[in-house]
Amino acid sequence: LIDRMVDARAVVYRRRAEELAAGPVVVGAAIVRDGTVLAAQRAHPPELAGRWELPGGSVEPGETEPAALARECREELGADVRVGERVGTDLPITVRGRDRTLRIHAATLAAGEPQALEHRAVRWLAPAELPTVAWVEADRALVPDLRALVAGD
Ligand code: C5P
Repeated sequence: LIDRMVDARAVVYRRRAEELAAGPVVVGAAIVRDGTVLAAQRAHPPELAGRWELPGGSVEPGETEPAALARECREELGADVRVGERVGTDLPITVRGRDRTLRIHAATLAAGEPQALEHRAVRWLAPAELPTVAWVEADRALVPDLRALVAGD
């Protein structure tokens, strides 16, 4: 039994080491409803203002990714979400000059109608609209994955 506990600790420890090596993660939500996905238009910084993204933000130390995503959606949209499966692959992004990993999860609304509390606007995009908006660079790469996600809704 002690051996197995030591093994389990080692697994947790190694996973944490891998996470640290990968650096902090930024999580984003692909919130799906009725065959559409929610996009949010950034209000800042100036070089990103007006561009569209999936709502989200940085995972805080000690916070799980689903918890971070739920927190960000409450803060940014005033809505509660249920966090689902990963969408697409991890994408490299730069946040204020630092390398980060952007990781998207599918989500559904649990309560509340999303509002642009920290964004300029929010908008539900149908599949045909997905390629037409001015996405931030990393999120644009997710368009095919978002189409597939919405098609399966
Ligand atoms: O919202 P916040 O400023 O915490 O986002 C951190 C960074 O992550 C931003 O610089 C933004 O460009 C990036 N980001 C992104 N795609 C998202 C969410 C955030 O590229 N869906």
